[in-house]
Amino acid sequence: MNLKQQAAVYAVDMVADGMVLGLGTGSTFAYALEELGARVAAGRLRSIVGVPTSEATARRARELGIPLTTLAEHPVLDMVIDGADEVDPRLDLIKGLGGALLREKIVAIAARRFVTIVDESKLVNRLGTRGPLPVEVVPFAWEVQARWLSSLGCHTELRRNPDGSPYVTDNHNFIVHCTFPEGIADPYTLDQVLHARPGIVEHGLFLGIASEVVVASAEGVHVLKRTA
Ligand code: A5P
Repeated sequence: MNLKQQAAVYAVDMVADGMVLGLGTGSTFAYALEELGARVAAGRLRSIVGVPTSEATARRARELGIPLTTLAEHPVLDMVIDGADEVDPRLDLIKGLGGALLREKIVAIAARRFVTIVDESKLVNRLGTRGPLPVEVVPFAWEVQARWLSSLGCHTELRRNPDGSPYVTDNHNFIVHCTFPEGIADPYTLDQVLHARPGIVEHGLFLGIASEVVVASAEGVHVLKRTA
């Protein structure tokens, strides 16, 4: 098993019969979804239902025979399992390089327990030092948002498909990637500043949300737990 798969299987071991689960998005979560599907098919997990965070996850879950539900039907989830792009020492995260940050955040805050699964390469001392912060914006006047985001001290780039067309999220929005040369000094202030701006729908800072992070490294799997 590779490291992503080890973290994923460790988290799936936390799932019990009858749970209502948030189903994440991305290459690490994909391993968890396969494992959930295998356990459901083998009758080792019964009566679980999942709320998917993307159309891609919903499609694969259906193929695997994992029953799906909605947040409207189950507004409180027992657990969410999802990947992350960066994890800092406070267990604050950057997510969304898979393009699903808005639904991921809506689902994340509905959960009693948010289990993040990563390989050790995702651990950082400061958020924004490993990659960009994805920011979801409405397509209308997106260039204005990109210019405003640059004024916060980052380099911006519209996320595009391989053919050069803008990447469109499941919610029909665009994503601007913001690269901060020195990382993000104060994620909590940036969170508020971004939320106050009309046209910005959501961003990839997941602050105070992860209850535990399952980290797989060459030495094995360990779990970091939020203390406050
Ligand atoms: C999806 O939008 C993301 O938040 C992913 O969870 C995150 O990008 C991690 O993806 P990988 O597991 O593919 O690295």
